[in-house]
Amino acid sequence: MVHSFGEGYYAFQALNRSLFKTENILDNLKVEFFGLTSNFRAEISKKGNFSQEEINLVIEVFRTAYSSASDDPVSRLRRIGASVYTENSDLDWSYIAGYEEVKRKIRESIILPLKNPDIYDSIAHLTRKTFESNRPRAVLFEGSPGVGKTTVARIIAGDVNVPLVYVPVESIMSKWYGQSSQNLAQIFDATEDLGGAIIFLDEIDSLAGSREQSMFEATRRILSVLLRKLDGIDSVTRTITIGATNRKHDLDHALISRFDQTIHFPLPNDRERGAIFSNYATHLSETELTGLAELTEGVSGRSIKDICESTERRWARTLIIKQLPLSSPEYKYYKHTAQSWMEEHKR
Ligand SMILES: Nc1ncnc2c1ncn2[C@@H]1O[C@H](COP(=O)(O)OP(=O)(O)O)[C@@H](O)[C@H]1O
Ligand SMILES: [Mg+2]
Repeated sequence: MVHSFGEGYYAFQALNRSLFKTENILDNLKVEFFGLTSNFRAEISKKGNFSQEEINLVIEVFRTAYSSASDDPVSRLRRIGASVYTENSDLDWSYIAGYEEVKRKIRESIILPLKNPDIYDSIAHLTRKTFESNRPRAVLFEGSPGVGKTTVARIIAGDVNVPLVYVPVESIMSKWYGQSSQNLAQIFDATEDLGGAIIFLDEIDSLAGSREQSMFEATRRILSVLLRKLDGIDSVTRTITIGATNRKHDLDHALISRFDQTIHFPLPNDRERGAIFSNYATHLSETELTGLAELTEGVSGRSIKDICESTERRWARTLIIKQLPLSSPEYKYYKHTAQSWMEEHKR
């Protein structure tokens, strides 16, 4: 295996019988690389014959180094573990019921600047001795699990029509020393090559993760890359970083301070729970929706969706077993599922 822990450096790891003995695989073998960013060339020499493993190793080194230098940004991002959504998402704002205040803040702080960068920049040109962008570079979404943070990021990308680079932070965390911070740096670099995007760092609290010594050092390095990149985002590109967290209090203060704004996603209130139920059970009456909302105090949008799904599955089984014609689930089925859900999740 080949790992890279800094530009121009590659570490070889033999995953064969001699796991900890590099001399077995690198004995007599000399590899030289030329031109790490363009006109890539490698020279390999050895006394005697190459083993299959050595040939595989060199090919792998070549592939790792070469691909990070010249691939298109989307494949680079995918390889690191980010997903890139470029087509308009099938979701729009009506998918999120309620949350008017959250939507308003997002419209003001994210949508407007992304749709009208020129106006923001022109104002900064008028006001500032030295031009600096006044557009927000980073916004933090904060709130309990299941309140719509990830979904909203997808909706924003569709609305402003820029690619969404979705980065589940946990998945870019590598156990290889230095690899995680490098992954993160590459995500920002590749995004810049895309010509701007929304970088969504989901569950950014995984950075705060463990307090073990070795992990702590790696975390510190990631953090420093992140802080540097957030500071350095090129103000000409239409790029904005959104971080999402369930545990804001676990985040490093230096990190929090880099976000221009925090948008809090509260748990839905009574009225909003009713509205969310009405998205997933359109056939129910106002009174029935209110009834369900009253039953589900403190429950997130995701859990409401789960309750509705589980009701539909119970209803489907009922129809099949009783051989009934197709119809929508009855209110009492929703009520029953909601009650048992609350019972189960009572603490
Ligand atoms: N206000 C809402 N209206 C409609 N659906 C919602 C709402 N809030 C959450 N959901 C549902 O819950 C699911 C999970 O939300 P998600 O965006 O993953 O939450 P988070 O990222 O905050 O954990 C969404 O896909 C959506 O179906
Ligand atoms: Mg999420």
